[in-house]
Amino acid sequence: MDNPIEEIKSKIDIIEFLSSYIDLKKTGRNFKAICPFHQEKTPSFVISPERQIWHCFGACQEGGDIIKFLMKWENITFYEALRELAQKAGVKLKQVDFEDKTWKRKEKIIEINSLAANFFAYVLEKTAFGKKAMDYLALRKINQKTVRNFQLGYAPVSWHSLLDFLVKKKFTASDIGETGLLVKGDRGNYYDRFRGRLMFPIKDLRGNIIGFSGRMIEGKDTEAKYVNTPETPVYHKRETLYGIDLAKEAIKKTGNVFLVEGEFDMISPYQHGFENFVAIKGSAVTREQLMLLKRYTNRVTLTLDNDEAGEEAAKRGIESAEELELETQVVSFDFAKDPDEAIKADPIQFKKTLEVPLPIYDFIITNLQKKYPGNDPYSKKKIGEEISVYLGRIKNPIIKSHYVKKIAAILDVTENTIESLIRTVKKKTKPPIYVKNKPDASKERYSLIQKYLLSLIFQSETPYEISETIFSVLTVEDFDIPAYQKILNIFFGLKDKKHGVKEIAASLPEELRPVFDEVYLYADSQATFSSENLSRLIYQLKKYSLKKQISGLLSGKKDEDAESDNKIKELNRALNEVEKKLSAL
Ligand code: CTP
Ligand code: MN
Repeated sequence: MDNPIEEIKSKIDIIEFLSSYIDLKKTGRNFKAICPFHQEKTPSFVISPERQIWHCFGACQEGGDIIKFLMKWENITFYEALRELAQKAGVKLKQVDFEDKTWKRKEKIIEINSLAANFFAYVLEKTAFGKKAMDYLALRKINQKTVRNFQLGYAPVSWHSLLDFLVKKKFTASDIGETGLLVKGDRGNYYDRFRGRLMFPIKDLRGNIIGFSGRMIEGKDTEAKYVNTPETPVYHKRETLYGIDLAKEAIKKTGNVFLVEGEFDMISPYQHGFENFVAIKGSAVTREQLMLLKRYTNRVTLTLDNDEAGEEAAKRGIESAEELELETQVVSFDFAKDPDEAIKADPIQFKKTLEVPLPIYDFIITNLQKKYPGNDPYSKKKIGEEISVYLGRIKNPIIKSHYVKKIAAILDVTENTIESLIRTVKKKTKPPIYVKNKPDASKERYSLIQKYLLSLIFQSETPYEISETIFSVLTVEDFDIPAYQKILNIFFGLKDKKHGVKEIAASLPEELRPVFDEVYLYADSQATFSSENLSRLIYQLKKYSLKKQISGLLSGKKDEDAESDNKIKELNRALNEVEKKLSAL
């Protein structure tokens, strides 16, 4: 095969490939799944083994082949996905074939980061400059194996030692600048961002170094304890989870992840054999981070610092967690400030604490009881109001009812009281309603009928046969979506009427393929039309089309226009016929 893309696609079966990421269910000729790219309960993600394509008919409305799937799953560029798949399929790619600027830029950043990590590690382990950092690590009970595992390093106290090192490796200051490792001074000069700091390389899922975090080990109190890589083309704080590359397997295996707030809080437990820990930076758990975790587990255990910031973090993460339907629980250590200190202070107690997590709502309730300890009506009111905000967002009715009961009992009021309180609070905190232009519902329905009919034709073993039934009533012009018309004209223009879907797809121009693929899979995505009478759908579409033509003529016609008048009469007659047919069905 001279086209490497086709060769890769022919060697990797889409069903086998996607099965390693998501659960697929067979439905007739195709497969269906819950879409991994948005939140949904009923599957609208359809895959065709025959044509090796997929499409999501839910919120994302996207589709493609295995390359597109991997691009979306890993959030990578076309070329990155292709490279990964080429390797899997054992196909050699010639770089020159696929210029991809975004990818090249990202790859260069990762390459420079990786060299920088080596430099920092060398300074830490092999030079006298690293001695203080080594002593500091010893003080924090981090052993040699862990240093290597996490590629820890030391950035010397210097304005340009890293810059010099990388320039020697033939990179320009502006290339290095892209990584965030340098700071640009007022006069356009570059200098090292990280100076005199213990360095933690931050990696993505696949172990690429996307950024760094540097902890001060000596210096003035006025300096920040941690300095981090700023946002770059590869480092996005909101999407980053420190340690995910090492922890992902354990997270999947245990079905749980412990989410901590700092690098040391991830590393120390890992050194002690707790491998399903990842760290956020600071105290905001983001939706992006939770989405990433949801690939591996449905349960998240917030393991936060024992302070108010930790509590805030828990509360802030809860909204996204609830939206993503993650089981969220909380662990906190009453005998230490954070997980790193806890495991060092008492490893046995540490383990025991992890074993008794509190569902997040119980955690919030307990904290509210501490905050308003009185048994008076005003304290009760406060507790009730504050908890209602959270209870109002709970999706699952059983979980919600459980907490309504619990709060009613705690406050010694009826469950009805709590339920009405939830409603009141919800009204007050409702976000302003965003008024969108409502799409014309009936127009939408007719577009979907068109899509459905085409889907039936092209999914059929004998497309031309079934098209006869449909086109005994309809004409190509009744399909008012231009791309559908084009597809139909090509379809009817083909000489060999025994063609199956593959030949039909192959005869379409490149720009019509995505539309065709979507149309092709559509019939499997929804049950609405398949439960309706086919003739009805056909006549409904005819009726819509006739009405549209009539109103088009009416609005364009001048007063005395015999030709239009006749045409309108004719269309009206046809419309009457169709309506009769419909009422007889
Ligand atoms: N952090 C940061 N910038 C700062 C302070 C903190 O990015 N100026 C991030 C770091 O990732 C840090 C986390 O927030 O690990 C939690 O901060 P904090 O609780 O103050 O520090 P610890 O994690 O306890 O750090 P250490 O154990 O090294 O003192
Ligand atoms: Mn700490």
